[in-house]
Amino acid sequence: MGKSIVLLGSQWGDEGKGKIVDLLTTKATCVVRYQGGHNAGHTLVIGTQKTVLHLIPSGILHAHVHCLIGQGVVVSPTALLAEIQMLQGQGVEIKDRLWLSSAATLVLPYHVAMDKAREQAKGTQAIGTTHRGIGPAYEDKVARRAVRVCDLLDLALFQEKVIENLDYYNFILQNYYQQPPVLLEEVLTQAQNALETIKPLIADIPAQLLAYRRALANIIFEGAQGAMLDIDHGTYPFVTSSNTTVGGVPTGSGFAPTALDEVIGVTKAYCTRVGSGPFPTELTDNAGQVLAERGREFGATTGRSRRCGWFDGCAMRRSVQINGFTGLAITKLDVLDTLAEIKICVGYRYQQQHFELPPIESEVLQACQPIYETLPGWQTSTLGITDWGNLPKLAQQYLRRLETLIEVPLAMISTGPERNQTIIMREIF
Ligand code: IMP
Repeated sequence: MGKSIVLLGSQWGDEGKGKIVDLLTTKATCVVRYQGGHNAGHTLVIGTQKTVLHLIPSGILHAHVHCLIGQGVVVSPTALLAEIQMLQGQGVEIKDRLWLSSAATLVLPYHVAMDKAREQAKGTQAIGTTHRGIGPAYEDKVARRAVRVCDLLDLALFQEKVIENLDYYNFILQNYYQQPPVLLEEVLTQAQNALETIKPLIADIPAQLLAYRRALANIIFEGAQGAMLDIDHGTYPFVTSSNTTVGGVPTGSGFAPTALDEVIGVTKAYCTRVGSGPFPTELTDNAGQVLAERGREFGATTGRSRRCGWFDGCAMRRSVQINGFTGLAITKLDVLDTLAEIKICVGYRYQQQHFELPPIESEVLQACQPIYETLPGWQTSTLGITDWGNLPKLAQQYLRRLETLIEVPLAMISTGPERNQTIIMREIF
């Protein structure tokens, strides 16, 4: 019997989803991206080879696996081409293995120009986007002026649509933001350069997914970013522009929600956030520095330093509520190895109020004080441990506390970046 599972980040992204997807992929037929774009960065370490993927699903490094990019993803033809070429350079074959939805929205140079211009104009109020043009591309989709993958198949039509959009974007870029215009030639050349490679990948993703399902295949839906960056449920406006929570799966892939079997939440043993926005458990002291250094907390896409903090059980409760996780994959446990004590946020205090769940208003969330429980650290290495029984008792105690706090059972614990540095609590497939 085939199983369809969703694997998504339960915090603010960068939870280490790439490694977990890669691990589970040994038993899967296909891996599907359904939202986000090349703002994501999934790092995979196999032996001495480190691969960073932005658009292509993490399953691509397994030769038997098919990788699908659904219509909920916004696709930069240039970024996709670069990633394909990088993989081919490593000897990874993509022919007959990688498929791209004809309905996916394209990210074009004017989206990037707009993203940068806006962020620059906002100054200290900037969202801290990845400058990849993701927000403007999603706006085009909702505004019903998007140029889509299928438009690449008719270059005359493509050009017509681009000219119309450029008219609009260049007016705003020049007159409102005092920025240079984007040239039509640049947009056309970039698209043409990618066309030959992309054309054979174009497919009807919902139909293909149904065929896999009928063939009883194991399917993994791979989330990008994290639940707290969701456009509807995250710390708005400091969010990304897609649905990073489980609702993004059916809309972004065309797979029936009633056919999903499991939703696995990937969570760090602590917490990080890139970009601006409220982060109640953020640490600016030595403990934060330890997490940043031991966790090598620098963005895979932008190289920016990530903000680090204690595990936020309050934000996590919201994530569990929305996503209905059936299991947790906890990553980067070993990063906590040297700490004498470890805190867990169990709620927030705001003026005289106590919150069990994060308030909706960013301004209120920003002013919330975390309420902590303090647990003793284990102060011994857990790096590479593969058996629960070999974990220090205090590490077991910490993990069990997380499990009871958020009421989701542990499925996997990652104790290092490599595939085999993992404790399997329950087989998913
Ligand atoms: P955008 O997705 O580039 O529009 O950026 C919006 C927000 O989402 C910013 O705070 C980014 O730092 C954050 N973000 C986007 N992609 C990722 C990711 O893959 N990991 C973590 N944060 C991300």
